[in-house]
Amino acid sequence: MTPPAHDSVRAVAWDDGALRLLDQRALPQRVDYLRCTGAPAVARAIHDMAVRGAPAIGIAAAYGVALAARARYAAAPATWKQAIETDLALLLDARPTAVNLRWAVERMRAKIGALAGDPGEALLNEARAIHEADVAANRRMGELGAALIEPGSGVLTHCNTGALATGGYGTALGVIRAAYAAGKITQVYAGETRPWLQGARLTAWELAQEGMPVTLIADSAAAYLMAQGKVRWVIVGADRIAGNGDTANKIGTYSLALAARRHGVKFMVVAPLATLDTNISSGREIPIEQRPAGEILTLNGQPVAAPFATAWNPSFDITPADLIDAWVNETGVVFQPAPAKIRALAG
Ligand code: MRU
Repeated sequence: MTPPAHDSVRAVAWDDGALRLLDQRALPQRVDYLRCTGAPAVARAIHDMAVRGAPAIGIAAAYGVALAARARYAAAPATWKQAIETDLALLLDARPTAVNLRWAVERMRAKIGALAGDPGEALLNEARAIHEADVAANRRMGELGAALIEPGSGVLTHCNTGALATGGYGTALGVIRAAYAAGKITQVYAGETRPWLQGARLTAWELAQEGMPVTLIADSAAAYLMAQGKVRWVIVGADRIAGNGDTANKIGTYSLALAARRHGVKFMVVAPLATLDTNISSGREIPIEQRPAGEILTLNGQPVAAPFATAWNPSFDITPADLIDAWVNETGVVFQPAPAKIRALAG
């Protein structure tokens, strides 16, 4: 099958009996790969953000469970199901906000429960199925989201939600890929995404690989860009969606939603059902990862702040559901997400 246009980047791959990760800490200066042969290495890669983005860390964790099962079964075939619990806990603890990580590990755990004998092949197949389903969901969301975009639109995205952040193709960036291929987008703007610079380092790199032009803005320029009438849609991904539609995503997303509403710009969240957490009823319950102050106080290892300054560095924020015009998932579009609509979807 011919891959859709503008879709060549893959960050997560099973290769020769190990998990191969494109090391996102080195981009765009270097294209380096990590080879993970056990769950501890996968958990470290997630924690240290060599692999990042909600769907991608779920997929990496699923392969991590397959690696753990292989090792635990080889060491103690009679007790591997108890022993692997340590690995599952390690993977679950690697990052707190993206619920896709828990979703993937729980799906692998359910598979483990149903297995007898050598688990190697069955768990690898389950991880592959999670991976392939994510790419298929992204392509479907790409079509659904692109259908909402009027020809001649400028769009603004935040963080990196592309092939680097998923099994392939991307969520919000998948919609942008599809709409661009359909000739609907005149300009893609990307916020640089302080402080880790996912927009400047990763989204700009990924779009360059695909031959798609991108204009970077400082995150603080977004409201003024909207005031100039240059943006019709803000299109973002999500790390967790609560039962009422409140959405956790990269820090700065909430500011974009506020600015969008003020300027009559539409706000689209693109995320698969694996990002929905029906155990919680509002965004207030979503755990927000706090990252080191050094990410703000330094740049490329060089101090940029006055000595003795401290920093507050939440990695995500919560956008209230009432600021979201459309949540695109693989089953359809939820306009103005609200508890009853989300219950119907989950049910
Ligand atoms: O800290 P990161 O880079 O893992 O944060 C990623 C995001 O916030 C993305 O927008 C989100 O995971 C959706 S990725 C398809």
